[in-house]
Amino acid sequence: MIEGLYRRGLLGIADTPAVADFVKSQGWKLGVGRFVAGETLEDVLRAVRALHQEGLSSILDLLGEFIDTEAGAEAMTNEVLRTLDTLAQEDTERYMSVKPTQLGLGVSFELALYNARRVAERAAEVGARVCLDMENVPYVDGTLNLLRTLYGEGHHHLSTVLQSYLYRSMGDLEALLTLEPKPAIRIVKGAYRESEAVAFQDKRQVDDNYREMLYRGLEAGAHIGVATHDESIIRETEAFVRGAKAKNYEFQLLYGVKPSLQRALAARGHKVRIYIPYGEDWYGYFSRRLAERPANLAFVLRGLLG
Ligand code: FDA
Repeated sequence: MIEGLYRRGLLGIADTPAVADFVKSQGWKLGVGRFVAGETLEDVLRAVRALHQEGLSSILDLLGEFIDTEAGAEAMTNEVLRTLDTLAQEDTERYMSVKPTQLGLGVSFELALYNARRVAERAAEVGARVCLDMENVPYVDGTLNLLRTLYGEGHHHLSTVLQSYLYRSMGDLEALLTLEPKPAIRIVKGAYRESEAVAFQDKRQVDDNYREMLYRGLEAGAHIGVATHDESIIRETEAFVRGAKAKNYEFQLLYGVKPSLQRALAARGHKVRIYIPYGEDWYGYFSRRLAERPANLAFVLRGLLG
């Protein structure tokens, strides 16, 4: 309950323009670099190589969201394409996450579909996979429709995300499981500020729903990205996949969060994928990470004072 209040409170404060301006002006002094690999493509490729050397897989996230113009979405889409082209020259995995509002979902569904199709086609050309991240509630239907439409066109290298804090997500999971072949699905708890009209506010309910969705997805044979740092859920998943001899899963963790757990999971023989954000538009991503853990805010405040 208190955790939920802290999270919603911090996300509310982060939406305040004065706070946003101040934090952006302080930039990397605040420790953004703990969660964001850098501002350029070169920065993120350095991080990818270092993680690969430790046996960790990667998924790149070009920061930028809630774009509200066609020109802005075009520019972001071109940057995603540039990243895919660059990955194609590298001896690394080619996997990107994109935010549908980055591609124009906040402008219109048609614009987002047009740009997402360009991304899907380029990804197919260079042998890459692309995950459509899940943003806040106004974009959930649009994101699932993008996935369904492009999947129906044969872009089976696309995947998406479901958030266990939403009441609707178990139904969305069942709907995704009817697709053939079953798409890869990342399951997360959910990072945005959502009302009790649409989302569980009690952490225990979010966690219980997470477990139910996870087991349902694994039993159905979909490839599940177990995207959490919750060590009890991770332990339970390990026991489950051992018992079921399941191979259709991977653990996914955020860059900079619990690095020793990331390595320990890889050492125990699991596939571990690190979600690595990069780019100049780091504010929204950074505030969601602060909202997840009070100690992260303390870390930032210490940086300010020091
Ligand atoms: P929970 O919040 O219960 O935390 C479990 C443990 O991890 C606690 O010990 C906690 O302190 C620690 N922890 C959690 N976050 C931390 C942080 N930032 N810093 C340090 N410790 C932390 N969300 C979304 O809405 N849409 C999306 O597309 C994605 N995509 C995504 C990809 C990947 C790979 C991950 C791991 C997560 C996401 N998320 C997301 C974010 C997700 O919804 C959620 O906000 C965070 O993962 C935090 O929740 P946990 O599952 O870790 O559990």
